[in-house]
Amino acid sequence: MKLFKLKISVGIFNVAFFIFVLNMTSCQHNINPPKVREKINFDSNWKFQKGDIKGSEAIDFNDKNWRALNVPHDWSIEGEFEKDSPSGKGGGYLKGGIGWYRKTFTLPTEYQNKKSVIEFDGVYMNSDVWINGKHLGKSIYGYLSFHYDLTPYLNYGDKKNVLVVKVDNSEQPNSRWYSGSGIFRHVWLTITDKIHIAHWGTFVSTPKVSNKSAKVHIKTIVKNDSDVPKNILLTSNIIDPNNNVVVSVKSEQNISSNSSHEFVQEVDINNPSLWSIEQAQLYTVDSKVSFENKILDDYDTPFGIRDFHFDPDSGFFLNKQNMKIKGVCIHHDLGSLGAALNNRALERRLEILKDMGCNAIRTSHNFPSPDLLNMCDKMGFLVLDEAFDMWYVGHTGFSYDYYFERYAIRDLKRMIHRDRNHPSVIMWSVGNEISAETMYNNGSQTLKKLVDAVHEEDTTRPVTNAVVQIKAANETGFADILDVVGYNYFGQGMDFDAKKYDEDHIEFPNRIIFGSENASTISTRGVYHFPADSLIYNTEDMQCSSFDNCYPPWGSSAEENWKAVKERDFVSGLFVWTGFDYIGEPTPYLWPARSSYFGLVDLCGFPKDGFYFYKSQWTDKPMVHILPHWNWKEKEGELIDVWAYTNCDEVELFLNDKSLGIRSMNSLSSLKAKWKVPYAHGTLKAVGKKNGMIVCEEKKKTAGIPAQIKLTVDKKNLESNGKDICFIKVIIEDKEGIMVPNAENLVKFKIEGKGKLIAVGNGNPLSHESFQAHQRKAFNGLCQAIIQSTLTSGNITIIAESEGLASDKVVINTN
Ligand code: GAL
Repeated sequence: MKLFKLKISVGIFNVAFFIFVLNMTSCQHNINPPKVREKINFDSNWKFQKGDIKGSEAIDFNDKNWRALNVPHDWSIEGEFEKDSPSGKGGGYLKGGIGWYRKTFTLPTEYQNKKSVIEFDGVYMNSDVWINGKHLGKSIYGYLSFHYDLTPYLNYGDKKNVLVVKVDNSEQPNSRWYSGSGIFRHVWLTITDKIHIAHWGTFVSTPKVSNKSAKVHIKTIVKNDSDVPKNILLTSNIIDPNNNVVVSVKSEQNISSNSSHEFVQEVDINNPSLWSIEQAQLYTVDSKVSFENKILDDYDTPFGIRDFHFDPDSGFFLNKQNMKIKGVCIHHDLGSLGAALNNRALERRLEILKDMGCNAIRTSHNFPSPDLLNMCDKMGFLVLDEAFDMWYVGHTGFSYDYYFERYAIRDLKRMIHRDRNHPSVIMWSVGNEISAETMYNNGSQTLKKLVDAVHEEDTTRPVTNAVVQIKAANETGFADILDVVGYNYFGQGMDFDAKKYDEDHIEFPNRIIFGSENASTISTRGVYHFPADSLIYNTEDMQCSSFDNCYPPWGSSAEENWKAVKERDFVSGLFVWTGFDYIGEPTPYLWPARSSYFGLVDLCGFPKDGFYFYKSQWTDKPMVHILPHWNWKEKEGELIDVWAYTNCDEVELFLNDKSLGIRSMNSLSSLKAKWKVPYAHGTLKAVGKKNGMIVCEEKKKTAGIPAQIKLTVDKKNLESNGKDICFIKVIIEDKEGIMVPNAENLVKFKIEGKGKLIAVGNGNPLSHESFQAHQRKAFNGLCQAIIQSTLTSGNITIIAESEGLASDKVVINTN
């Protein structure tokens, strides 16, 4: 392992950062001598074996033949889709089971007087952890971040340490969506002095915010795990977004041995740079703990200065500005990468959603990864941080009551401790569609306990619940317990009735209302079922139409859904189900369908038409999007529905340069432009105008037969850290370079140089091809390969070939 020291000047202070780079050639992780506080990434050099292998926790167990890998890791995604897989449709017909992980490492003798804590950001599920044969504990809920103190059991010097994790995801089904299995988030070893800031021990809030000044309230728990009382000085430096220390505050306290103290400090900041969706400006509290002028701990808490509130009549305000929450719900899997967290893959997803104009994420229906929240802070997303999908009553036949009775409140509090400094987090949700329990009094009692638990930890954010049985929740008083009431699918269904919102607003005038889950419109990228204006659900091809005309009995079209919220100031916003397709829950189908159709974007990250509908409603930069594609040879002369989504004032459609009419977008009744066009080969063109000026256009051309492959890549420079990835989009084109919208050619990939192919996909919910193969059939003209860097820099060449087509290649640089 190499250690690099990077010194950055921050105002008058010098802050030292230490970057660790692991040497992957050996399978043992040797750690260098300690500094003040170190958070060492512990993802590399694990050994893994599937199955329940007795005795694997023993320090001397022989794991020589186990597979070497890095976490985050998800073994379920490596398996085959099987009709009788116990995970069923929820789990996308992939398998759970039991798996073991072992990691061997040494620690220098200088660590002997330190405190060492191992932290897992998430392990799905039922994990047991041992260090050097000593059992540290069990963690049931797979989305929970948990940590153990290793200090009493560690060896130092040349003597090895063995960290062992058993993961038991064998009781199936236990999830309504694909969960993945294994150590699927990052692992960290944190080393501090015996006197240190407690785990998740800071709480920074901004109780008073204006453009001129802000009050910053800082609570810091300092622990003295040594045997002597100490007079401790806590210095909190506030570092602004330009890395300048703008204010410092000091407090002193004698802390007895083996006890802790909570420091409470408050500072004022003049002319603060506010955190907002457009400018996600982050400050940091740099907390230094010292004793007799020696710094014992140095801990950073990023935070944002922002103010928000909800008004029962006018909805949501951020920094006193009224705005709609334009959100999507997401599950945690990353398509063909499964549930194993990859930071770049997650960041790319957020970039795609940002491009759509989305400003909020609901972490349905579980604790998110810390990485997601960090990214939302940096990229400017609001977050509805959700805890549970079920309380006592499981949704899957899986019994949940044991967990819930013993651990729900403890885990909920942990989530709040972990996440409460993120400016992006604006609400806590204690549950999704707790249907049965909403209807009975004991449900309200449970809710009250959960809400009180949140209030004990954080009063700066409201508590909500995504309620589907609103009528029952109104009658039992369930809804009244909430600070903000989340409405799932309200007024939706076959007889969509947006006025239901109005009725509730009249009946509960002080209630804050928002759409916690909406639409559930389903679609398959590139699939169109006619007529476009009729609901077409559950078809023989087991696909879903992209004309906004396919949704389940509890859902609605995207247009009706958004219109209802847009037209009502008192509805604070909504969260569309879902931003991305996810594995599992292939509504309305069963096998062979294995992933959902709900996404506005498919599993590969290719936008569907629904993405452009919301983009037309949620963004201002001129855009126009035409649907469907223009390859309808079999419908020559027939009238074809053609729609355009645009944010312009008007849009004109042309077929082969002949105008088919202008549509004004100022009508309140429709949020799209529509034409019926007699089909003829050629070019459809939509031209958008604002204030009479042409500002954008889009063309859809009839494609010929597949002739060539075209590769495009989201980024051409990767970091050679063995983690960075890029996404290769594979387009099947005709000889003129037009995408062939129904092409299904099998594409084979060859990789040369300093990279590896880690996944392939095509966005088809029916495909049973392996995500880990070196080939993929195109689906409706597209497929994808995901390439990862290694630890060596250099070029990576990706060649894509298909029988009868001209091949293409792309070169990526890693450094
Ligand atoms: C909701 C549920 C989601 C998802 C969705 C599909 O009722 O909260 O988790 O199942 O339905 O439409």
